Amino acid sequence: MESPTRIEAALEQTVSRATAAPCPARLAEAIRYAVFPSGGRVRPGLCLSVARACGDPDPAIADAAAVALELLHCASLVQDDLPCFDDAAVRRGRPSLHKRFGEEIAILVGDALIVAAFRAVTSLIPANPAKCTAILSVLTAAAGAPSGIAAGQAWESEPSVDVAAYHHAKTAALFEAAAMAGALAGGAEPAAWRQAGGLLGEAYQVADDLADALGEAPRLGKPIHKDGDKRRPSVVAKLGIESARHRLDELLDQAMRSVPDCAGRADVEAFLAQTAERLCPPALRVAR
Ligand code: IPE
Ligand code: IPE
Ligand code: MG
Ligand code: MG
Ligand code: MG
Repeated sequence: MESPTRIEAALEQTVSRATAAPCPARLAEAIRYAVFPSGGRVRPGLCLSVARACGDPDPAIADAAAVALELLHCASLVQDDLPCFDDAAVRRGRPSLHKRFGEEIAILVGDALIVAAFRAVTSLIPANPAKCTAILSVLTAAAGAPSGIAAGQAWESEPSVDVAAYHHAKTAALFEAAAMAGALAGGAEPAAWRQAGGLLGEAYQVADDLADALGEAPRLGKPIHKDGDKRRPSVVAKLGIESARHRLDELLDQAMRSVPDCAGRADVEAFLAQTAERLCPPALRVAR
């Protein structure tokens, strides 16, 4: 089965379980709204691409890790759009979750998605305790404090911020986790994959900051100029547009060069190239 089909099928299974009776109807509808229809599915895509490159010996575990990564990401988007964070009215081209369902439900959807993410992996512990606990450890580091998404978003409440640390925690940590969880599911050494995932994640946030400064809202499906309006630390504010473009180019290049040697290396490189293509419409590219 192709990775996108695998990801949607696995997400559907987990979301169905989380929204089954006796889940209150409004919460169930909102959980589904947060996950479907899809965004780029880049983090689960990276996870499966690495697992496949390593031979994909445990597809059920790779799928569970991919689901967990996407649900953690979806939870982070719901929280990020709340009025107390970025106050964004649009996400994935339609009203953001709190606009559609209200803030109370949005907070609970965030909680429910994070719990469902971990449950997707814990439910497979009896089948493979070693792999599942290693994957859980990688996921918890990427989602929480001191250096995962929760910490990353919390840097916005500090008087001064190192942009690299902020970007790493709020975005790159989950990309590192995606690459490492894919390696673990594939039976490979996760440390070797950390760098490639982290560099892609850093590139991803640089491209996102550039898109916020330059982008067209319809293509992005979310508001633009939020970083400036909210005075967020960003690579564009720190380096300016041209240097940020060069930084993006450099990071994508480094990510490509840090893919470890393995049987399916070319497939992971193809995934990175495809992600880079999606990340870098002409307005964001360095003129060559
Ligand atoms: C948006 O991530 C948040 C960032 C970390 C930049 P994505 O651009 O991957 O969002 P979706 O999942 O495709 O909507
Ligand atoms: C958010 O970064 C990263 C998350 C952890 C959600 P942004 O605030 O820049 O993401 P967008 O631009 O709203 O997608
Ligand atoms: Mg934000
Ligand atoms: Mg935002
Ligand atoms: Mg942004």
